[in-house]
Amino acid sequence: MRLDLATWPEVEAYLGRSGGIVVPAGSTEQHGPMGLIGTDTICAERVATAAADLAGAMVAPTLAYTPAPFNMAFPGTISVSESLFEKLVTEILGGLASHGFDRFYFLNGHGANLAPLARVSAEFREERGTRIRIRSWWDFETVNALRREYYGEWEGMHATPSEVAITQATGRIVPPGDAASPPERLPPGYVERHAGDRHGPPAEHRRRFPDGRVGSHSALAAPEHGTSLLRAAAAAVAEDYARLMAEQGAALD
Ligand code: NI
Repeated sequence: MRLDLATWPEVEAYLGRSGGIVVPAGSTEQHGPMGLIGTDTICAERVATAAADLAGAMVAPTLAYTPAPFNMAFPGTISVSESLFEKLVTEILGGLASHGFDRFYFLNGHGANLAPLARVSAEFREERGTRIRIRSWWDFETVNALRREYYGEWEGMHATPSEVAITQATGRIVPPGDAASPPERLPPGYVERHAGDRHGPPAEHRRRFPDGRVGSHSALAAPEHGTSLLRAAAAAVAEDYARLMAEQGAALD
């Protein structure tokens, strides 16, 4: 059930049986020549909503304005500071907690959200004794098996064919254009070294990755891949959410 499409009596009734809520977190940033600006937001929201349907969970409106400073040299990117994002998330969790929500499952679609979400969650758990879990939709083995099978090394790091495929499954398919040919290959270890989107300043990042793809061959995406990735991610998240709901005591993982 989507919180934004629920009425308050429906939310009150839900809280009578569950204190859990899924909070999707995306971004508003460039995703290469054929990836939509809202790619991360669309992926997080679609996976979270499908998982929540499977698990009978409530899902909050998606956090779409998040930190993406390294992509600010590409038109369309909107980046907010980590400190503002952390304050916003703190107040959102506070608002939800005041109504009785006490288990939060962040379903993430953007690497740069992970560190701020972890900081906020650690503080919140400390103060309120809640259970909080943070997962990205690509964290699950069933999802990774598909990513490897479809794209191998060409999954890369940004404007990945898997995230583009999930957006394609929602209906909009942008022809590859300049992204028809593969991007420059990333040096070994690049993805690990830059995990969590640790990239350089905007101008340098655009010079290094001129069309916005970071080692990802977006044009390998296909809508039917997107449907399968979405289904695998939603099933994995629904199972993991059920585990979170079954666990006792305060925790963050
Ligand atoms: Ni992305």
